[in-house]
Amino acid sequence: MAAMDTKSTALDRAVAILRRGGLVGLPTETVYGLAVDASNEVAVRRMFAVKGRPASHPVIVHLAGPEQLGEWGRVVPAAAVLLAETFWPGPLTLVLKRTGKALDVVTGGQDTVAVRVPSHPLALEVLRAFGGGLAAPSANRFGQVSPTTAQHVRDDLGAEVDLVLDGGPCTVGVESTIVDLATDPDQPRILRTGAVLGSEIGRVLGVPVAVAVAEPDPGTPPEEIRVPGALEAHYSPRAGVVLVAAEEAAARAEELTRPPVRRAVLIAPAGVEAPAIEPHLRLESPAEPDAFARVLYALLREADARAADVALVVPPPESGLGAAVRDRLRRAARGRHPA
Ligand code: TXA
Ligand code: MG
Repeated sequence: MAAMDTKSTALDRAVAILRRGGLVGLPTETVYGLAVDASNEVAVRRMFAVKGRPASHPVIVHLAGPEQLGEWGRVVPAAAVLLAETFWPGPLTLVLKRTGKALDVVTGGQDTVAVRVPSHPLALEVLRAFGGGLAAPSANRFGQVSPTTAQHVRDDLGAEVDLVLDGGPCTVGVESTIVDLATDPDQPRILRTGAVLGSEIGRVLGVPVAVAVAEPDPGTPPEEIRVPGALEAHYSPRAGVVLVAAEEAAARAEELTRPPVRRAVLIAPAGVEAPAIEPHLRLESPAEPDAFARVLYALLREADARAADVALVVPPPESGLGAAVRDRLRRAARGRHPA
């Protein structure tokens, strides 16, 4: 069938590009990744250069299946096997003590490596055909908004990527949950919130799981920040992000649309009134948190496309993916400000 031929051709091309050290925009269920062969130091360096990412920030290695855990982790605790069996393929990243296979350029010189098996069918096909071991950060420029469609990747990185595989819009919409099992496997810690919840991890492992998501300290020098998600300005659109409660939205909108702010966009669920905002600068967000997560980055990008100076956002409730959405919004809000 023609459709199958097209698909297998794109897959073959992606694998060939990766084998010769090229960069491939890869759809995953969370966000699009910028994939390179993790064992090719030159390719990894090029990927860092294209992203504009500091060398000290480690990237996640994507695997074809849990059977590859031992290739990358020199210590694979029972907790890692259990979590991999339960949540892979899926939006969970495990941090383990690394083997020699994990290069310094991938781990930022740390003694640990982050690994995950994504569940997007196209990502899995590429990983299986390639044999695993693809280093892939989110396919955006460092500090900016992650891509959740192939077009976002083309918009951000354009000609600098050798091929962008189009796997449709991401079904989760925010980056994977990261769990540290390297520091103490008996006391797992969540370094980044995502679709796999701490409560689910705790239930599977039978231990309480601490959420150790670093709140950014503006005084911390960049070399000391291990999780870029913890940086001050991250996930940031050009517009300044301001978080606001639904009942304050109208008053804040009024305030913010006065000079020096020229243009504000209100991102809020239906029913939140904002009389001072012109109709074309009102974007509706889904009321349900998981649905909000799927469109979060597209909404922030839309605010930029409409040349908004400020995006006023009413965040979703904490439940489900709400916590991860609120985390990303708080970090985005620490980026550029209107003043
Ligand atoms: O959902 C995801 O995880 C997406 C898709 C493409 O898989 N990837 C992603 O990559 O979000 P990136 O590079 O944007 O974020 C990777 C995060 C960073 O916060 C990084 O610090 C953390 O993973 N990380 C990587 N290696 C680590 C390590 N050895 N220890 C602690 N954190 C690590
Ligand atoms: Mg990222």
